[in-house]
Amino acid sequence: MDFLKVNGKKNLNGSIKISGAKNAALPLLTSTILAKNSVNISNLPNVVDIRTLLKLLGMLGASYNHDNTNISIDTISLDKTTATYDIVKTMRASILVLGPLLSRFGHCEVSLPGGCAIGQRPVDLHLKALEQMGATIVIKSGYIVANAPDGLRGATIVFDKVTVTGTENIVMAAALAKGTTTIINAAKEPEVVQLCEVIRDAGVKIEGIGTNTLTIEGTCGELLDFKDFEIIPDRIEAGTYLCVGAITNSILKIENVIPTHLDAVLNKFEEMGYMILKEPTTITICPANKISPVNIVTTEYPGFPTDMQAQFMALATMANGVSVIDEKLFENRFMHVSELVRMGADIKLNGTVATITGTPKKLLGTDVMATDLRASSALVIAALVADEETRIHRIYHLDRGYDRLEEKLTSIGADIVREKE
Ligand code: UD1
Repeated sequence: MDFLKVNGKKNLNGSIKISGAKNAALPLLTSTILAKNSVNISNLPNVVDIRTLLKLLGMLGASYNHDNTNISIDTISLDKTTATYDIVKTMRASILVLGPLLSRFGHCEVSLPGGCAIGQRPVDLHLKALEQMGATIVIKSGYIVANAPDGLRGATIVFDKVTVTGTENIVMAAALAKGTTTIINAAKEPEVVQLCEVIRDAGVKIEGIGTNTLTIEGTCGELLDFKDFEIIPDRIEAGTYLCVGAITNSILKIENVIPTHLDAVLNKFEEMGYMILKEPTTITICPANKISPVNIVTTEYPGFPTDMQAQFMALATMANGVSVIDEKLFENRFMHVSELVRMGADIKLNGTVATITGTPKKLLGTDVMATDLRASSALVIAALVADEETRIHRIYHLDRGYDRLEEKLTSIGADIVREKE
């Protein structure tokens, strides 16, 4: 197993180029199950989650040529409809094959993802919506067994909660259904928007893209004619590197971003005293005279993303005063707290609310454990300002979602190396 060794307190500056968005690439790759042609996709992030999904699509019978950031994928030959436990257990987002497999083949079996480090994370809303579209679903031996022998039919779906992958699964299911599907309380994340745009460009009439009501006219089983496309930049990777600039109080330029995707995050940096310069595809963060504390409530897009909560908690440990972070989406997304406390942070947890009493220059390096993807990046951010050496273990979590993290950080002056346990 690999670990990262970070020596903090280095002066950082320069620019970092952001990779394609993992959470956009995952549903976009599974959406190619709906294609009648081979599809060229560019700006794929080179991360483990993408390779895991490609392995799953390969096991289902898809063929592809993949060179890290570009892929040509062909699902015409896809002939299996079972997503097995051994792969789904390593990546919950495998659930994104459910909607497209069921709508194309009228049958599929997908292992239940189960819990994960950040909470229970059920998929009940995905299943209920597919049942409303005419599917029969039973849970058998840990598998979701879904059948719709006569095809799915359009329905009006009202999601009880805003769910990102739930919305994506139903958009993909509705694309080949008979009739019109309306999704009320749909997710509006940029990743959902890109999926809708790609499916629309492939010939499906979709209205309301980017709003919380989507109307999709299905093709009644006819496969789609996909155009080539490029994955949008990863707003969470961009936000993570902006936190790197913020905590080290450096001037850092983030390239290949869509600044409007980060509005809620950029507002919080400004509230903390940083100056943010936006250009059409870059964001530059400039040092704060005094880092102010911040109050954050995580919520659905366009609100503050839960995927940036851990990184801002690391940053808040350096603020002059008390910050409060309320995690509204996931019940157990505070695994990084105990690790930050081991580094000397003063953080109190009460239910979903963390209170961070910041003290500049207080963190001290030690051995810490990465627990999930974003918690891991919070530990890297903290390590960059800690005294002495920090060793971050179990970094396979980081490799799931950050493309060449050490290389990007080294290029701006960080002292970070990967070693074997
Ligand atoms: C996606 C993102 C993840 C991000 C999250 C919230 C991907 C691959 N992952 O995860 O990085 O943190 O959105 O922005 O895009 N819920 C239910 N029942 C369901 C589905 C969801 O109760 O059937 C609940 C969840 O437990 C959670 C909330 O709804 O409390 C939102 O979860 P959801 O948006 O579905 O998260 P994911 O799509 O899994």
